[in-house]
Amino acid sequence: MRVERLMLKGANPPRLAALSPECQENAAMALSPSWRTKLLGSLQGQLQLATYLAVFLGFTGASSVGLWIGQRNLILNNAQELRRSAVAIQACMRKGGTDDRAFVQQELLLHSSMRTSLWVENPDDSLVLPQSDHLEISDEAIQSSMAANPDRVVGRQELIRLGEQLYLSELVQRFPNGARLWISQEVSTNQRAMNDYLALMILIWSGCLVITLMAVSSLVRRIVQPLEQLNAATAQMTAETLASARLPLERGPVEVMQLGRTYNALLERLAQSWSQQRQFVSAVSHELRTPLTIVQGYLNRTVKRGDNLTEAQVRGLRTAEEESIRMRRLMDDLLDLSRGDSGKLSIQSEPVRLADQLEQVADLARSTLQRPLHLELPATVEQRDAIAQADPGRLRQVLLDLVENADKYSPPDRPIRLVMREEPNSHAIDVIDQGIGIPEDELERVFDRFHRASNAPERTGSGLGLSVVKLLVEGMGGSISVCSRLGEGSRFTVQLPR
Ligand SMILES: Nc1ncnc2c1ncn2[C@@H]1O[C@H](COP(=O)(O)OP(=O)(O)OP(=O)(O)O)[C@@H](O)[C@H]1O
Ligand SMILES: [Mg+2]
Repeated sequence: MRVERLMLKGANPPRLAALSPECQENAAMALSPSWRTKLLGSLQGQLQLATYLAVFLGFTGASSVGLWIGQRNLILNNAQELRRSAVAIQACMRKGGTDDRAFVQQELLLHSSMRTSLWVENPDDSLVLPQSDHLEISDEAIQSSMAANPDRVVGRQELIRLGEQLYLSELVQRFPNGARLWISQEVSTNQRAMNDYLALMILIWSGCLVITLMAVSSLVRRIVQPLEQLNAATAQMTAETLASARLPLERGPVEVMQLGRTYNALLERLAQSWSQQRQFVSAVSHELRTPLTIVQGYLNRTVKRGDNLTEAQVRGLRTAEEESIRMRRLMDDLLDLSRGDSGKLSIQSEPVRLADQLEQVADLARSTLQRPLHLELPATVEQRDAIAQADPGRLRQVLLDLVENADKYSPPDRPIRLVMREEPNSHAIDVIDQGIGIPEDELERVFDRFHRASNAPERTGSGLGLSVVKLLVEGMGGSISVCSRLGEGSRFTVQLPR
């Protein structure tokens, strides 16, 4: 098979390695992150979440403590006011006593106001209220005040809510005759002021929260955006774009901008060394190709004409010839790849009758294969006459390479099938074997340079063949794919555009 390959001349490889699996994974993560990854796994999510939590807890904590202190002060103030009123009437009542009802009513009226109510509870449970047409003392407030202090504990203050109104009440004194002096103060007005203050605070707090969140989002975005750009640019990077790809640096935090500049400088150095490496490979392949061809020619001729050679000498010369062929092929592959990298690979495009090419390939392959090769052309004449735009020499090279792999990676005697099919939008050619197959997780990588599957026998190849095949097929505007089952066989499909 090696010999046939060498007979095919001309080479025009296309581009370089695709994205590495790590890059593909990163790119996929960047494109479609789940909400969980975005929130908890990303720098942006973590920064935003931490700031939101800090702002939320800070505002809530500060306003709750403020409100609690305000509320407490309000109650304390009211209680002090109540106490002052209680002390004043207590003194008067102590002097005058509680037996004279008219005096009591007058005193009660004297110390009452629109907000402060006073009354006396007699031992027989009857009540003495201030006598006035202007003051309205709520009966419900009186009953509730007394009900809130069933044990009649002197000096205990109770906060009572009646509908919208809030009252602070206290049993001020118990007189020697058993009468009790009560006071109650309406504190709803202060409470309403407190509620208004609370509503205003919530409003201001919400506004501040929204503004803070927006500011934080924008700041975090500013930090993260260049990093995302860096990730996207790295994910898209290939050997072909190395020379031109640079991270656009417009704005961002100093540290991130520095990282971007360092990254760009790194790309520059990589591009330079990649270009030098390509030139080196190209020059070496080119320089070695000619002497290798000459050596191979001499060896071949010597073996053919060497009637006076011993069997051992012939064997040695044949091995040398095979090795020189292998070396020459390696040089060809490297040269193709290096030309593809530098864009100097030219691929012809002409109408090609596919069935003819397949027949030629089958004939060439059969002359060296030790196993059957079945050529399967389409049933109808119309389909057999299918014409594709391709480079005939390169197409044969591709198919022979695939057949060579099928032969190399299959146990002896298992047949190889070369199948031509017509698909709705393309011409398809399958090379099918019943060989060792390829592990599923390595399927994509077999097209990478120097990649050999983990189950490939040692020293049976360099891992360049399929990368050249891919390069050539894509150069002809087509594509190549593989499906394989470990231990059962593989199918490589070349698709050429109609
Ligand atoms: N038909 C096949 N069956 C099983 N494994 C295959 C087949 N074709 C390719 N492979 C796997 O893919 C790898 C890459 O193939 P490729 O042709 O690029 O390299 P190679 O055959 O090892 O060396 P060479 O450069 O000489 O062709 C192989 O090493 C092998 O592991
Ligand atoms: Mg190969």
